[in-house]
This record gives sequence, structure tokens and C-alpha cells, in this order.
Amino acid sequence: MKRVDYLPPAYLLDQVELTFQIFATHTLVSSHLSFRKNPEATAGALILDGDGLTTLSVRLDGKLLGAADYQLTPTTLTIGGVGEKALLEVLTRVDPAANKALSGLYQSSTMLCTQCESEGFRRITWFPDRPDVMAPYRVRLEAEKSDCPVLLSNGNRVESGDLSEGRHFAVWEDPFRKPSYLFALVAGDLELLHDTFTTASGRKVDLSIYTEHGSGSRCVWAMESLKRAMKWDEQAYGREYDLDVFHIVAVSDFNMGAMENKSLNIFNTSAVFASQEKTVDQAFIGVEAIVAHEYFHNWTGNRITCRDWFQLTLKEGLTVFRDQSFTQDLHSRAGSRIDDVTVLRSAQFAEDQSPMAHPIRPEEYEAIDNFYTVTVYEKGAEVIGMLKTFLGPPTYRKATDLYFDRHDGQAVTCEDFVKCMEDASGRDLTQFRRWYSQAGTPLAKARSVHEAATKTWTLTLAQSFPTHPANLPVPMPVRLGLLGADGRELPLNAAGDTEVVLTFDRAEQTFVFANVDEPPVPSLFRHFSAPIRLETDLTDADLAFLLAHDTDGFNRHESGFTLKKQDLLARIEAQKGGRPSPKTGLLVDLLGGVPGDPKLSPDLKARLLSLPTQSYLEQVCDPVDPLAIDRALAQTRLELAKALQPGLRAAYSAHHRVAGAGFPTDAEMADRAMKNLALGLLGELRTEDVYDLAATQYRAATNMTDRLAALRVFRDTDRPERAELLDDFYRRFRGDKLVIDTWFAFQSSADVPRILEQMALLEQHSDCELTNPNRVRALYGSFGRNTTGFHRVDGEGYRYQARAIVKIDAFNPQIAAGLTRVFQGWKRCAEPYLSLQKAALESLAARADLSANVAELVGKYLG
Ligand code: ARG
Ligand code: ZN
Repeated sequence: MKRVDYLPPAYLLDQVELTFQIFATHTLVSSHLSFRKNPEATAGALILDGDGLTTLSVRLDGKLLGAADYQLTPTTLTIGGVGEKALLEVLTRVDPAANKALSGLYQSSTMLCTQCESEGFRRITWFPDRPDVMAPYRVRLEAEKSDCPVLLSNGNRVESGDLSEGRHFAVWEDPFRKPSYLFALVAGDLELLHDTFTTASGRKVDLSIYTEHGSGSRCVWAMESLKRAMKWDEQAYGREYDLDVFHIVAVSDFNMGAMENKSLNIFNTSAVFASQEKTVDQAFIGVEAIVAHEYFHNWTGNRITCRDWFQLTLKEGLTVFRDQSFTQDLHSRAGSRIDDVTVLRSAQFAEDQSPMAHPIRPEEYEAIDNFYTVTVYEKGAEVIGMLKTFLGPPTYRKATDLYFDRHDGQAVTCEDFVKCMEDASGRDLTQFRRWYSQAGTPLAKARSVHEAATKTWTLTLAQSFPTHPANLPVPMPVRLGLLGADGRELPLNAAGDTEVVLTFDRAEQTFVFANVDEPPVPSLFRHFSAPIRLETDLTDADLAFLLAHDTDGFNRHESGFTLKKQDLLARIEAQKGGRPSPKTGLLVDLLGGVPGDPKLSPDLKARLLSLPTQSYLEQVCDPVDPLAIDRALAQTRLELAKALQPGLRAAYSAHHRVAGAGFPTDAEMADRAMKNLALGLLGELRTEDVYDLAATQYRAATNMTDRLAALRVFRDTDRPERAELLDDFYRRFRGDKLVIDTWFAFQSSADVPRILEQMALLEQHSDCELTNPNRVRALYGSFGRNTTGFHRVDGEGYRYQARAIVKIDAFNPQIAAGLTRVFQGWKRCAEPYLSLQKAALESLAARADLSANVAELVGKYLG
């Protein structure tokens, strides 16, 4: 599929009526589709999409069609000679219990549910399964009352009642026109958590979260998060909820995090359950963000949707930007930004350097599911953030208001969105549009000089795209501040502003500032104002100065990050050359005071004492020696632990608090983050007293954050406590799928010599249910990120992963494709990793039975 080949649909839909007759062994789906010729289309037959359907009958305008009246291929149903209007009635039969791809209508535990984005609806019935065909839906569900007392679909329930033979029915009507990917149904015996929300205009909305029985109490945090999100969207974007009911259903078997189906969001249990006993603090913030994300889609995605899937970032980039802003408003602004940038740099920069690099609006694809990427989502969010920075908050709000006004009820393009930004601001965004069409991470270089005689300070910026040299320059907002020798901010213009936003849009550009009395230290790209790599001429002393004085919370941390990165790079080089490592003198000087610094918040302390991720360091090394990076990280941690030992021990005690009842507060989470960071570093010392401390913390733990952090100290060891506590963990939580995922992931990510024997044991474990995507991610996904296991120099890690991909691909291509991504960086690796990964990929490519999803990735990687 190519973006430029877009054609409007030949027929539009005025109304969709569906009836689902649910039986234990199968489901009958009958559809009534009222078509109308699209005046904007050139011509063409009526063509519907399908996938794996058993077609029982087809009627056109009431007349039963014979096999000669239409053409059927495995993926299309074509009917010629259709007039201006037509009523098509199709009866299909599907088998939800046999659907292990978890796309379309499927069974998860005892409930039936759906996942239709992007192309799952065609696995339910024949349909023009594309987002620019929108219609109101009326859906009738019929099922056995005892198995499925709860019957849900989109919109309002308008009818329900009993049928004969213990069956019952419900009819749902969604007044808002929507594309098929937003269709949903759920049927099962479910527990309900109920609440209400009153909108700004005073309408009362019923909020319901459904789960399997026994789990309702785990959704209270999600419910609170939902209400916070509804309120925030009213204030920040002026968007109210538009129906009287809003449902969330928690499902155990789910390919992704969650799905924004109109008024019937379906969630992976991992994205909605949260309780202190079973959920780590970070996941509380994650649940809140995902609940908000899916809710925000009601306006950015549902009311205004995408014309075609190349426009995916229109809804995803914007909605991620909205959920990130929400989290920043509710929690530490700098802290959340640091965490988001860590993800961007670890995962998106990696994708941008891989053969799968693509613009946020891709030009072509084989399997659209492969393009729900960190580039479309996270870099897409950065692009919206840059627009907001350029326009300024009030104008940005004017522009989003215009967007909602102009395009409500439509399926539109990224271009339509940018046009609203342009029209509302009067700014010419012609060049800005390059962010939508160019792949690759820009590299910006900054140098500056101060001239005492003229009191001028001159900043020179240069930009390039090392991985995509043909790219043209892009406009970047440079949020800038200048610090004087005493740490005070200097005025940057006559108005006395201490922070300005520069527009940096040429290959090389110079900015001159007058009346700068003293040589300043610049704080550049504050709050990470553009998604780029930055190289500067700042000295270590300048960076240390910024670390101490910068008023921008993000950049304070960033200066420390740059120093840690430089130190690690020197160490990695030494590792590769077999030379003795440089001592971490600088790092110790820099970070030595952090644990005891009363001016730093505990969460910032924890972030400052964390090292750049393995995945990030792989992006800045060339070629990549994954094991050398792993060793450099381990050595640095050990040296820091040794040098900072007294401070870390003191911090451990100072931040150790008994967890309060109820949900974790930001202050409690911050204390736990610092305490457990200290425990983790001290664990590197491998001393008896630290092992005792960890075992004691594990046994006394009342929350999952403390319990896991304590267990983590033993993960890469052969201490007796490891087996003992792991066993305790299993017995304590057996039967609880999500927590047992943690137990699997813990073992698959261990740095232990016999990791493959360990994996074999886990695969034989009675809980190793590979049809459950969370379990697959816990087992094989974690192994793929296990540096010493995956990158074994005998190549066994790669071969193991390739076999796992084939095994999963046989029934769930989307999940198999996710596992395949661990190979995306192979071409940048040094030997022997390079040839061994190539061989594993070639063994995959040689198979005739790969899914389109996995085949597309393998093909692109081998390129
Ligand atoms: N729209 C969903 C979300 O971001 C994710 C759907 C993912 N779909 C897929 N085919 N991978 O909230
Ligand atoms: Zn989304």
C-alpha cells in the first residue's frame, strides 16, 4: 500500500445494522448495510473486505444472490451492477474460540470481545473496512443469559429483554458516525465497578468498568484516573464527553495496551488493574496515562478520525501528546518529561537508525499493524509539542479549537491538522511539514562565543541528518536560557525575558544577543524542545555548572545525563580495546553529593543516579558491541556503589517509609524510587549485609515496588535467597496472571550463565500459556532485552529467539512481529553479533509460512 495511491471509497454507508447470535461453539453475524454511491468517487464496483470468513448467504435489495452474482476471493467480495443505493445483507459464521490472533471477535477466558483496529472488523463480516467509511451503528446481541448476562456494544442501550430457551438480547445504538475500526462488543459474566461524572455543562455520565469476577476492586485507581482525565480535557482542550455512558472492559488476552472504541474502551488488564500489593508505582502512572489516552481519543480519533492509515499519527501523535501533557500537569513536570524522553531516545532513536526508519506519516506499508510504532506515536507527539512551542499555548489552543470545529465528524489527514495550526496562527508552516515526510533523527551542533568588548554572545547552530543525508533542514524550536557566573538567569532581550524560543530552520544559522555583560553558560533545547541529538561545545565544567544551577528541571537532569554518557562512552571504548577502564572520578565528584543533597527532590535524585539505558548507548556507539556496553554499565554501577556507599546507606534509611494505605502519593513514590535506587546500587557490592537488607525488605514488603526491588538484588546471583524468594513470590501470587507475568519476566531477564536452560524450564512450566500475549511478552519479550542472554557470542540467543518468533507467528502474527523487532539493530553491530544475527534473520526469511507481519520486518531488516 502506498500513501499516494489513496482513492475515495466507491460507496458510502448510511446505516449499519448488525445482529450477533452468540452460541457456545460459534457466532452468527448478520449485517444490513445501506450503501449509497459516493458522489466524490470516480466509479467502481462495490468491494468489501473480508478475512477468514465463512459466508452463509448474500442478499442484495432483498434478493438472494447465487455464486454467479458476485465474486469471492479470500479477502474480497465484489458485487457489480449496483445502483445509486443498495441494501446488502450478509450472513457469516465465525468461531471466536479458535481465534488466537486476537484480532476480530475472539474469546478471552470466559468472555467474548473484539479488537478491530486496524483491520480486525473484516474478520467478523464483509465490510468496507477503511476508516473513511463512517456510519451510525445499531447492534443486536443475543446470547445465553447464564453464560453472558452482560451484553455490551457502542453507544446507548435502547432495548433488552428475554428470549426463549434461556437466551436474552440487548440492542445498542451509537448515534455518532464511526468507522468500523471503532466497533466493539463484549459478552460475558462480568463484575461491574460503577461511578458517575458530571460534565462542565452539568450532564451526568455513567462510568462503568467491567472485569472478570473478583477483580473489580483492582480498577478503582483506573476509575479515579478516568475522572481526572475527563476533567482535564474540559479544562485543557475544552472537550466534554458526548454520551451518557462510558464503559471500560478489562481483558486478559489482548495484543496491545488498550483500544478507544466509541464509549466501549477495551483494555489489557495490565493497563487498567492497579493495587499497591500487586502493582509497581510506575505502573500506577502508566495506568493513569493509558486510561487518559484512550479517553482523549474520544475527540482526537473518534469524533475526528483518520482518512486512511497513513494518517495514523494524526490521532496517535496528538493523543500521546495530550496524555503526556496530562501526566506533566498532574505530577512532576520535569520528571515526567525526563521519563518520556528516555523512552524516545531508547526506542524511537533506535527505530530511526534501523532499516524500519519511517517518517511519522509513512509512505508505504505491507502490514499496517507494523506501523503502530514509537515513531508514529512518540515522535508524532514530539511534532505536536514543537507546534505548540512555536505557536505558544494560547494560539495552540485557538488552533485546536479550530480543528475540532472544522473537522468534527470527519475522517481527515495530517495536512488538515497542520492547516488548522496555520490558519489559527497566521504562521507559514510549509517547511514544518517536512517533519511529517522525513525519517531520521536530526543531529544539531551548537557552539557559542562571548565577546567582552561588544558584550555580544553569538550562538551558531548547525543541523544535519546523519542517517538520512538527503533530508532538508527542519524548523526546530530552541528553548533557550543563559546563566551568569553566579547561576542567575540573564535577560535575553530588551523586554528582560530570561527564556526565548528561537526558530532554527537552516542547515547553519547564527543568533546574536546584545548586552550580554559576562560570558554565559547556555541552557539549550530546554524541556527537550525538539526530538534531536545535540552536540555542544560545553565543557564538563559548564555541564556540572548547569547541573547545579539550571532553572529548567529537564535540562538540569540533561546536563548530568550528558556527563554520564560521556563517561560511559570512554569506558565502552576501553572495554572494546581490552584496555583498563578509566576511573569514574568525574562521575563520583558529580554524583557524590546527590544522595544527601537536601535541595534535591528524592525522585530527581533517583533519576540523577540512574545511568543511560543499554538501548540508548547502543544508539550512540558505532559499531555496537552490546556486551561491552553491558560490562561498562555494570562496572560503572559498581564503582558508584563503592564510592557513594555511605551516602547511599544514609539515603536508604532516610527515604524508607512505611507505605500508607490507599493509593501511592507522589511523595511516597518519590521516596520509594530513591530508596530502591540506593538498594539496587548497594546490591552491586554483593555483600552479606546488603543481601540481608534486601531479604528483610522483601519479607516486610506491603507493596509490589518494594517487593520487586528487593528481589531484583538477587536476580543475577546464585544466592540461596534467589530460589527461596522466587518460590515465595510464586506461591503468594499463583493464579494471578499479571503478577505471574512479572515472575516470568524476572527470570527471562536475568544475567545468569545458564539462561537458556532457565528459559527451557519456564517454557515447560504449567503456567506458560503462550496464547496469552502478556505471557509471551514476559517470557520472550524480556529475553529479547536480556543483553547477555540474547547476544550470547555462540549465537544461541539469536537462534532461540528466531524459534520463538516462528512458534508464535503460527497463531498470532502481531505478537510475533513485536518479538522480531529485537533484531532491528543488527546491521550496526560489531562481529560476531553481526553475522550471527544475520544468519538468524536469514533462517526466518527462508521460511515459506511467515505471516505478512513478520515477513515485512524480516525483509526490511535484511534489506
Ligand atoms: N489505538 C490504540 C491506541 O493507541 C492502539 C491500537 C493498536 N492496534 C494495532 N493494530 N496494533 O490506543
Ligand atoms: Zn492511541
